[in-house]
Amino acid sequence: MQKGKIDIFYGPCWCDEGKGKIVDSALYKRGQEGNQYKAVVRFQGGPNAGHTLYRAGVKCVLHQIPSAVFYPDVLLVSSSGVVIDPILYVSEVAEIQENFSIDVAPRLRISHRAKLISPLAPLLDRAEESRRTGVRGDTNKVGTTGKGIGVAYASDRARTGMRLGDILAPDFMEKFETLFAFEKMHLAFHVEKFAYEYNEEEIAIRKQKWLEAIEVMRAYMIGDVEHEVRTILREGGDVLAEGAQGSMLDIDHGDYPYVTSSSTLPQEILLSLGVGPEYIGERIAIMKWYNTKVGGGAFPSRMDAELEKKFQEAGGEFGATTGRPRMCGWLDLAVLRYVFDLSSPTKVVVTKADICAVDEVGIATGYTEYADGSFPYALADVQDVAVEKMPGWPGWNPKESPELPPALRAYLERLEAFFQTCDSKPLLYAVSIGPEHEDMYYWKN
Ligand code: IMP
Repeated sequence: MQKGKIDIFYGPCWCDEGKGKIVDSALYKRGQEGNQYKAVVRFQGGPNAGHTLYRAGVKCVLHQIPSAVFYPDVLLVSSSGVVIDPILYVSEVAEIQENFSIDVAPRLRISHRAKLISPLAPLLDRAEESRRTGVRGDTNKVGTTGKGIGVAYASDRARTGMRLGDILAPDFMEKFETLFAFEKMHLAFHVEKFAYEYNEEEIAIRKQKWLEAIEVMRAYMIGDVEHEVRTILREGGDVLAEGAQGSMLDIDHGDYPYVTSSSTLPQEILLSLGVGPEYIGERIAIMKWYNTKVGGGAFPSRMDAELEKKFQEAGGEFGATTGRPRMCGWLDLAVLRYVFDLSSPTKVVVTKADICAVDEVGIATGYTEYADGSFPYALADVQDVAVEKMPGWPGWNPKESPELPPALRAYLERLEAFFQTCDSKPLLYAVSIGPEHEDMYYWKN
């Protein structure tokens, strides 16, 4: 029997590329073809992500649960590489039930090796950010989502942290109290040294809520889910891997320290799920036709303030997790070439093609000082960015005229020509032309 494959959907930029919607559309298409994926796996990150789906105009923002909630036969897997906040996880399950009358609980599969975000991790995350602000000034903040992501990954690597499997063990409370006391000491250090302020009552409430959420989570399927997924693959079932953060936020290859604390490249699925490279299927890079970024760090292709405002408004460019306005920039081919070299995409999906509020658009074609194709150690070192201008397609409404306007076609053909110059020569596969799962234009199959 032929074994199954893992198709990996990931973002080659800084995030917010529309990954959730494209995963939703891919599941819809495969369902119609009678060839549905058996599972969708979140393999890195945690509640820092915010993937937005729509059903009949109703918004569904998923932070930790994979974007397959609307497909009753698809398992919702969190593999070993993710960090989980039990309070937020449980409330996400409840929200899906409340807003869409879908009980996802029987389909949840959480690895016992997934990492727990402790009750104090978000506070420590914010304390670290406030210390960085004090020491180096506001512009050098990492600009984290404040969800405790870095703290959870750091304590896992230091082997002081807790994993989901621990909540099923008899000595759970002992381990929990030890970690809690340790992190409280760390917090006291921030108070003493850096005048960080927190509220004891807030901590007591969080601790209580966290332990209550753990009780709820014990009823979910927590165990060797990697084995379950390997069995699916061995028996010929296909699996979809859903990246949470974009490649430029990768802990090793991104613009450190303005990155997240996990490996965000598609190959991370191999380690997180524990499978060999033979199972890798398509690598599908999902990117907006323009760029956005939130948090600290340089953004070489950023637009001027007036244009940025237009894109923020037209594209609703405000964080799904934090509500922060996103910086907007032109698509950056230096970044894309770098990330394509790191990740070998086979296909590209371009999103938000229906959003264009300007008569003239740009593509950042390269960094002048890095004409040899090398990539800067720090993006802040980039001084000069070459930008090519092309006509825009303002006012296009795909609901009224479904054909792609000529200016958009020309832009996409320009991108295709660029893809041909990259080693992996990915195929421009589809264009997203609206927020619902059916709003897709298949460029090439
Ligand atoms: P953290 O992941 O919360 O530690 O944040 C580290 C950096 O990654 C910050 O610049 C965040 O703004 C950014 N980041 C993390 N997750 C997301 C996301 O889902 N969308 C956009 N930016 C993100």
